[in-house]
Amino acid sequence: MNPKFPLYFRLGQLFQAMSIKPTSSYSSNYERMSGNCTRIISSQMVASINPPITNSSYILDNACGPGIVSEQIKLVHPEANIMATDLSPAMIEETKNLIKTENWSNMATDTLDVRDLSNIKDNTFSHVFTNLGLPVPGDPDSGPKVTKEIYRVLQRNGVAMVSTWAGEKSS
Ligand SMILES: C[S@@+](CC[C@H](N)C(=O)[O-])C[C@H]1O[C@@H](n2cnc3c(N)ncnc32)[C@H](O)[C@@H]1O
Repeated sequence: MNPKFPLYFRLGQLFQAMSIKPTSSYSSNYERMSGNCTRIISSQMVASINPPITNSSYILDNACGPGIVSEQIKLVHPEANIMATDLSPAMIEETKNLIKTENWSNMATDTLDVRDLSNIKDNTFSHVFTNLGLPVPGDPDSGPKVTKEIYRVLQRNGVAMVSTWAGEKSS
């Protein structure tokens, strides 16, 4: 198995959030609307990633939403160096608010598309988390594009963890 992709979560159809263009009010209500499901998954991803996060890790929270994966990381590793990215400016604003409220250091944000992380150099991160950030709604080819970008920005011995949706087949 490729060490960069050790684990792949499959989930039920939890909600349709990825097809919504998030607005500020949407992102502030995010946890209520998602029934905390993304936090539950995030905490499991952060706890089980191997090699584990250390003080020298550099982590991408890809399609970060309001920063829930980052928050789970910071709970355990307050000094962790994190870049959090999302296509939605409202979500990035939420994440920035969280950084300010929690007074986190070593954390930056950027408004980026998971299919095109071209602002980020190759071989940058030791860990990449993409929690419910693919597929991109309306883009049936997004899976390979997102995977290629994750692979590109990972360091040689880096590790990625991805969660995605699973649904029942319609007849
Ligand atoms: C279900 S949420 C998951 C958010 C977060 N990872 C979490 O654990 O809560 C999906 C996120 O993907 C973002 N998103 C949708 N399309 C995107 C794209 N093409 N590039 C980057 N982010 C995107 C949305 O703005 C939203 O924040």
